Amino acid sequence: MTARPAPDTRARGRFITVEGGEGAGKSTLVERLVGALGERGIRAVATREPGGSAGAEEIRALLLGGATERWDPVAETLLLMAARRDHLRRTVWPAIAAGRWVVCDRYADSTRAYQGAGKGVDPAFIEHVQRSVDEGRAPDLTLVLDLPAALGRARARARRGKDDAAGDRFEALESSFHERLHSAFRAIAEAEPGRCAVLDATAPPDDLLAAALRAIGDRLPLPLRPA
Ligand code: TMP
Repeated sequence: MTARPAPDTRARGRFITVEGGEGAGKSTLVERLVGALGERGIRAVATREPGGSAGAEEIRALLLGGATERWDPVAETLLLMAARRDHLRRTVWPAIAAGRWVVCDRYADSTRAYQGAGKGVDPAFIEHVQRSVDEGRAPDLTLVLDLPAALGRARARARRGKDDAAGDRFEALESSFHERLHSAFRAIAEAEPGRCAVLDATAPPDDLLAAALRAIGDRLPLPLRPA
């Protein structure tokens, strides 16, 4: 048996984003992926958008709280982009520069889907602002969790019922909005097959994790057997 070389911790880390509609299991998958990558000798950190840095978490509270019509879609896009810029500069880029892998619960495709396809913000405007915010650095890989919108909403409702918590401004939107999101995430993945992998989010959590690790192994060179 040939010994595998130890992972090169001086190398730049990778940026993996996890996308999809409500109730698709993104947060659970992000946490489990970080654990599974760690078992393979890869130092990984979990983060989320909007949020992931002190300033961005403050903006998250502004974005998610209050009445559904609190922000118009353009203002909402700009708040999300301000949060993203802070998150990239303070959390994501420093971690990647230090050799860590960053696994992020939602990122720019959520803006394309929710604010673009869902709420009618001009896609050209979103891309223009995004280019300044990310300085041309796209994620290395995006895992798109695919789940019929009705099933995702039912899962999100069940979760809220358990936590006795009200939905946020976005979860309160009507079902046609969530159908548009579902189509938008699929269209994004079809348009960028090199960056995106679509995963069946109706699968049990263990199978979803295995599929995610396979997708990562197919696209990014990494030691995918446990260390
Ligand atoms: P979460 O429920 O996955 O934590 O996400 C919070 C909400 O923010 C979710 O309903 C989707 C929304 N969102 C956008 O509308 N656009 C974005 O760019 C991001 C990152 C999130």
